[in-house]
Amino acid sequence: MERSEFLKYFGTGLLVCTGCSLVSCGNNDDPTPSGVDFTLDLTLPENSSLQSAGGSVSKDGVIVDRISSNEFTALSRACTHEGTNVNYRSTQQDFLCPNHGSVFDKNGSVKTGPATKVLFKYNTELTGNSLRVFS
Ligand code: FES
Repeated sequence: MERSEFLKYFGTGLLVCTGCSLVSCGNNDDPTPSGVDFTLDLTLPENSSLQSAGGSVSKDGVIVDRISSNEFTALSRACTHEGTNVNYRSTQQDFLCPNHGSVFDKNGSVKTGPATKVLFKYNTELTGNSLRVFS
């Protein structure tokens, strides 16, 4: 086999394998933040919307919402369908994905598809005016 034939034959194969590997890596991405542990000071202006029910704040890929006077929820903001950020709807107390219309309840469960997996839920702990969000 001539050198040019060898490179042509195996070079094409290498490109195909490299392409498959890149596609494979892209499909395994999980946009759910891990190792989450932060505290929100509710007295700061950037967190003031959490002072009353219906408010929400996004931080580090997590959407934190005040459901009622003493109830918070913290969910991964990435829609489980294709990763678009969901938005909190205080009137309905749910989360809408603006991309394809999936709706998740306040616990992250799917109410309407096309998403089929729940949003990851983080723990919340309120101490005075500090709200800790952690996994
Ligand atoms: S990315 Fe959210 S419904 Fe498709």
